[in-house]
Amino acid sequence: MKQIAFFRLSFLFLFLFLLSLQAKDKYRDNHSCQECHEKIYEEYQSSYHSHGYFNDTLHRKIADKVSLKKYDCATCHMPMADNLKDIVTGKARPDKNNKTHTDAVSCYFCHTIAYVKKAHRFNINVKAKQAANYKPSLYGRLENSDHNDKHSSVNNPIYAQKVCMGCHSHKLNENNVTIFHAMQEGQNSENCIKCHMPEIEGGADKINKRARIHHASHKFLGIHDTVFRKKGVDINVSADGDSLHITMYNKMAHPLIIQSARAKYLKIEIVREGKVIWKNYQTDPREDKQGYFAASFTKDGKPIVIPYHSTAGKIHNLAAKENKILHYKTVQLKKEDTVTVSFYVQFAKTDCAKAVNLEGTDLMKPMLIKKVTLKL
Ligand code: HEC
Ligand code: HEC
Ligand code: HEC
Ligand code: HEC
Ligand code: HEC
Repeated sequence: MKQIAFFRLSFLFLFLFLLSLQAKDKYRDNHSCQECHEKIYEEYQSSYHSHGYFNDTLHRKIADKVSLKKYDCATCHMPMADNLKDIVTGKARPDKNNKTHTDAVSCYFCHTIAYVKKAHRFNINVKAKQAANYKPSLYGRLENSDHNDKHSSVNNPIYAQKVCMGCHSHKLNENNVTIFHAMQEGQNSENCIKCHMPEIEGGADKINKRARIHHASHKFLGIHDTVFRKKGVDINVSADGDSLHITMYNKMAHPLIIQSARAKYLKIEIVREGKVIWKNYQTDPREDKQGYFAASFTKDGKPIVIPYHSTAGKIHNLAAKENKILHYKTVQLKKEDTVTVSFYVQFAKTDCAKAVNLEGTDLMKPMLIKKVTLKL
């Protein structure tokens, strides 16, 4: 009997909770945090979380190619939109005069994620309910943080575990084709935070009453940063007779390719007496099937570039923590030969750049991740 009453009560609470999600609280825009969290604000502004429909060319070009009516990317790219449902279904368009649209993955959004619900196509961020006309409660990890007049701070035990999962875990399209799969079952956000939000110098707010000397970086460095991106994969080269062996170890807690617009690939050259005598490809890195890492999709058997409508897809990838050895038959190697292995990224791989008219731009240009040299 008691149990039934308990279940009834929990259903009632669940119902009230879901109802409460409908109520809109006042949005605190990114700029409003700057007053006190100046440093964090600047870091955030330099990060890709501040990039979205209005200031990320690649994203906008692909989104517009998919549809000029519906913008269902908003769930993750414009999650704070005050008319999210209308944007997703095509009843409204992104508006550059609306802060809930231009703020992209905003401070307030991340810091009010209460829970992440697992789902098949992509996970769902559940936001904390905020009482209207009171200052909001923001989640973080500070133990008893200082008081301030703009918000209360709440230490949420699930926060660090779930906060990245809502958007970064996985995404399937409407045909159940995997577009990306970055996080494994049971994997939480703590390791993401360790690598992408390391402790850096300075307090967490301007007044800094507790004289803290560190805070979690909000630069969210990733593949766009020339120094940070060197750390993702270890590359080693060895040679014997007429063969090269290239070991690639993915140190990251996610696969090498988690963004279907990207290509990451190897360019290998053997130089003898100042002349290149062997290459792993002649003109296009796609000639070398094992050294070219990228996703490819088809619709009803025919290749397509933008995966939104694909019916099948595959990714040539390096899994998290995978160690792979690539073998190449070359020319007979001699003493004094130099082998160079360069690892590149194209933010928009060649066919993708062509499909959205970004050919010849920096987005398509190969950017060096790292280079390894072996002198025989
Ligand atoms: C389930 C959440 C989710 C949805 C829905 C989503 N994305 Fe993303 N998107 C992400 C995440 C997370 C990243 C960052 C991951 C990465 O860079 O690998 C990202 C990154 C991107 C990037 C790379 C940005 C850059 O500048 O390099 C592009 C392009 C992109 N998304 C396009 C789209 C488009 C177009 C849509 C809608 C058709 C869409 N996404 C829908 C989660 C999502
Ligand atoms: C009037 C000043 C002020 C403004 C405006 C402000 N904060 Fe804070 N915030 C603080 C202070 C002070 C602390 C406590 C820092 C400490 O204890 O080291 C804090 C702490 C935090 C924490 C840590 C809480 C925890 O439990 O870990 C988060 C997260 C946070 N603020 C987010 C925000 C966001 C997001 C905004 C904008 C929507 C914002 N703050 C606006 C003053 C402010
Ligand atoms: C509301 C959805 C959302 C949440 C929550 C979220 N992200 Fe992102 N993240 C994105 C999107 C969307 C992008 C790509 C934005 C763009 O480039 O247009 C992105 C990009 C990134 C990048 C790529 C930077 C680069 O240079 O390419 C990193 C790293 C990252 N996020 C880490 C994290 C971490 C760590 C967490 C958890 C603390 C997190 N994200 C939480 C949506 C989210
Ligand atoms: C051991 C450190 C490490 C851990 C743990 C880690 N990352 Fe990364 N991540 C990196 C490095 C280094 C790069 C840049 C190199 C690259 O992308 O090849 C990167 C790249 C990224 C990118 C951009 C990829 C692209 O091509 O656009 C995103 C998004 C990202 N990480 C999100 C996450 C998320 C979410 C988690 C938690 C599941 C996580 N990272 C865990 C080190 C790490
Ligand atoms: C992608 C999600 C995300 C976004 C966007 C984001 N934060 Fe955070 N923030 C976090 C996480 C996660 C932590 C806790 C890091 C940890 O546990 O080390 C954090 C920590 C903090 C802290 C406490 C810092 C410390 O070292 O104790 C403050 C203050 C804060 N954020 C303010 C902001 C402000 C202001 C903005 C916007 C300018 C912002 N955050 C944007 C995820 C985010």
